[in-house]
Amino acid sequence: MQTTIAAAIRAALLECDPHAKVMATRKVARDWRLGRLAFAFDAAMPETPGRPNSPELLPPGKMPRRKGGGERGRIALWHALAHIEFVAIDLALDMAGRFGESMGRQFVSDFLKVAADEAMHFSLIDRHLRTQGSHYGALPAHDGLWSAAHETRGDVGGRLAVVPMVLEARALDVTPAAIERVRTMGDERGARILERILDDEIAHVRFGANHFADHAERLGDEPGELWKSLVFRYFHGSVKPPFNDSARLAAGLSRDLYTALA
Ligand SMILES: [Fe+2]
Ligand SMILES: [Fe+2]
Repeated sequence: MQTTIAAAIRAALLECDPHAKVMATRKVARDWRLGRLAFAFDAAMPETPGRPNSPELLPPGKMPRRKGGGERGRIALWHALAHIEFVAIDLALDMAGRFGESMGRQFVSDFLKVAADEAMHFSLIDRHLRTQGSHYGALPAHDGLWSAAHETRGDVGGRLAVVPMVLEARALDVTPAAIERVRTMGDERGARILERILDDEIAHVRFGANHFADHAERLGDEPGELWKSLVFRYFHGSVKPPFNDSARLAAGLSRDLYTALA
């Protein structure tokens, strides 16, 4: 019997080892693309995905302060980025596995593409950390990223409203400055990694915004109003400028809508 998409995604989510999770994620995306997985949802997504023994996960307030320049500050920056990408793999897998049945095949295709991109981002960053004598797991990381997923586990609208359309959109705003900083420090290869990631993240936000618009239409709701109410319900941070208007526009987010959230 053919493996189901839900069973394959669940298995990738439960992988603890980072390299094993990367490989499993790329395999699910490839198998789905090649028609090797049945569109069937016979396995539940885990409450919490598999995590390696290190990094140690700390509540956001308990994280050691990241100091500006210098060797240690630089490694801390890349380690934090590696952790974001690692959790992003699980966020995208969970999106496809938890909501794919109700949202359909294109939704699954889009978010498995996102998951494979995040796996690639993680690998690029981990490799870059290793060239600096460190690796993912060498420092503590913060534990807050999964909570947005957990709170919206029963509401695909809430998940789309918060994860791609607020959190990933925020990455569009802050990445250009990070690229500049990294380049100024003389790390040209690092700058190019971040440029590639920024391009991919525009596409991720666009997938989120498109599926959110479809979802709102099915409900008969006005997308902007629905976005506002879901962000208000599920997101506890603030949506604040400066916004990267051109990247957000390329991702299909309209300025009127996100400035209304701020
Ligand atoms: Fe990413
Ligand atoms: Fe992403």
